[in-house]
Amino acid sequence: MKDSIYGKYGDYLPLMLEDFSHRFKEQNKLAKAETGYKLYEHFIARVKSAKSMRDKCQRKALPETTESVLKVIRDSIGIRIVCGFIDDIYKLVELIRQFDDCQIVTEKDYILNAKPNGYRSYHMIVEVTTPYPDCLGNEQGSYYIEIQLRTIAQDSWASLEHQMKYKHDIKNPKRIVRELKRCADELASCDLSMQTIRNLIEESSGD
Ligand code: GTP
Ligand code: MG
Repeated sequence: MKDSIYGKYGDYLPLMLEDFSHRFKEQNKLAKAETGYKLYEHFIARVKSAKSMRDKCQRKALPETTESVLKVIRDSIGIRIVCGFIDDIYKLVELIRQFDDCQIVTEKDYILNAKPNGYRSYHMIVEVTTPYPDCLGNEQGSYYIEIQLRTIAQDSWASLEHQMKYKHDIKNPKRIVRELKRCADELASCDLSMQTIRNLIEESSGD
């Protein structure tokens, strides 16, 4: 990665990704052992490619520098956690809040406040203090991680909506936008029902 826009700092990004992936896996194991339920179904973790970062710099009219992509743009490291139930998203948010080396810099609850198109997810940007140097000359450098938390339903909706963004020859976009919005609202209502059913099952179990 040394020749990429990340410079020598590019080597540290997969290490942080691995560290956080491990933390989430451990939390899932712990939750399963304690409650019998997983906190999430799966997650994906990625370092944004150097090419995508250059494109993003251009879109945002930023100079294509290591500082832009590590200190101004804050999603070089991205983790998306996909949960079965809404409550588990908020449990994970609280767990992330308790990580000693993390400072939450932004938090957007697009579940409580869905985007006008129907997009729902919980987004956080965390700033992590690491044992690695950073591009500002700090020995214990800080790096940003974007964490997105969603239900399975929200995730499948976002994939479909994302596909539409890249198709520019769609014949009836207004209708598709309307149908997507309707579908997002129906899925949100299903997510609520699923949560209610799980709560009922828990309340009515014998112990
Ligand atoms: P940048 O993406 O860095 O410009 O940040 P932002 O301030 O626009 O952040 P926001 O939290 O709105 O979005 C960050 C990421 O969330 C995006 O890169 C997507 O992965 C996802 N996202 C946000 N809005 C949508 C949406 O309407 N549809 C889909 N499919 N994904 C979305
Ligand atoms: Mg965006």
